[in-house]
Amino acid sequence: MVRREANGIAYVSSGWPLDGAKPTLIFIHGAGGSHVLWQGQVDGLAGKVNAVAIDLPGHGDSKGDGMGTIEDYARAVADFIRAIEAPKPVPCGLSMGGAITQQLLLDHPDACCAGILIGTGARLRVQPLILKTVEEDFSGYVDSFLAFAASEKTDPERLRPISEATARGKPQVALGDFKACDAFDVMERLPSIEVPVLVITSEEDKLTPPKYGIFLEETIKTASRVHIQDAGHLVPAEKPAEVNQVILDFLARAAL
Ligand code: COA
Repeated sequence: MVRREANGIAYVSSGWPLDGAKPTLIFIHGAGGSHVLWQGQVDGLAGKVNAVAIDLPGHGDSKGDGMGTIEDYARAVADFIRAIEAPKPVPCGLSMGGAITQQLLLDHPDACCAGILIGTGARLRVQPLILKTVEEDFSGYVDSFLAFAASEKTDPERLRPISEATARGKPQVALGDFKACDAFDVMERLPSIEVPVLVITSEEDKLTPPKYGIFLEETIKTASRVHIQDAGHLVPAEKPAEVNQVILDFLARAAL
């Protein structure tokens, strides 16, 4: 695994230089998150695709502040994809990262050969209690994070690096992210997407319930959906081998 930076965005890559013959998965984390979410993809997909997991501006090892809107994040990721000259780029986002992926597909189609939407929706209203807890009691939010974001069947030890990375994040950046999600709504625009899209939903996802993914599947005319059992919102880390196989099958079907 290689750590690098481009355009102020820190990222880890399964290898460097990127292989021009393979698709480049650009993994985008959720609100207040970091590249740590995608460790199972960067390791598990190494050698099969170019696997790049980024820290959005203001997150993880990236400098600066967070951004106030999904549009701004999408612009920053599109610039990043161009800067690293990613061969056959396929953005793949969870939750807020999935909102950014939809925005990339809509506003920056030149930066996307396909898209992967995991645990996300075309509209991401946030429960007022989450906003209040992040704003007034960030450590309480971090302590309760796994209880609402993961399945009870997942070994919490497996997710410890993610909660530790969340705890190192800046509270005001996480708050800005949740507000950006709350304002996000591309429900009307999805029919204009033309590249292949994979939607992954999880049986026990309480934050972005499967009905959000069903809406994506039914509204994006190029979408297909896979539903994963015994996993919650953090499915890429809860079920890495299963998610990786679903991604590889999708890329094969899309001839990428
Ligand atoms: N895809 C499909 N349908 C959606 C949707 C999406 N992305 N977002 C909302 N809807 C649906 C809802 O299911 C609801 O349908 P219904 O009336 O048939 O039940 C309707 O559109 C209205 O949705 P919403 O405005 O979100 O409902 P609300 O104002 O009653 O509730 C919340 C607001 C925050 C309580 C609710 O959105 C929620 O529980 N969100 C999930 C939890 C959360 O905070 N997630 C964080 C994501 S970052």
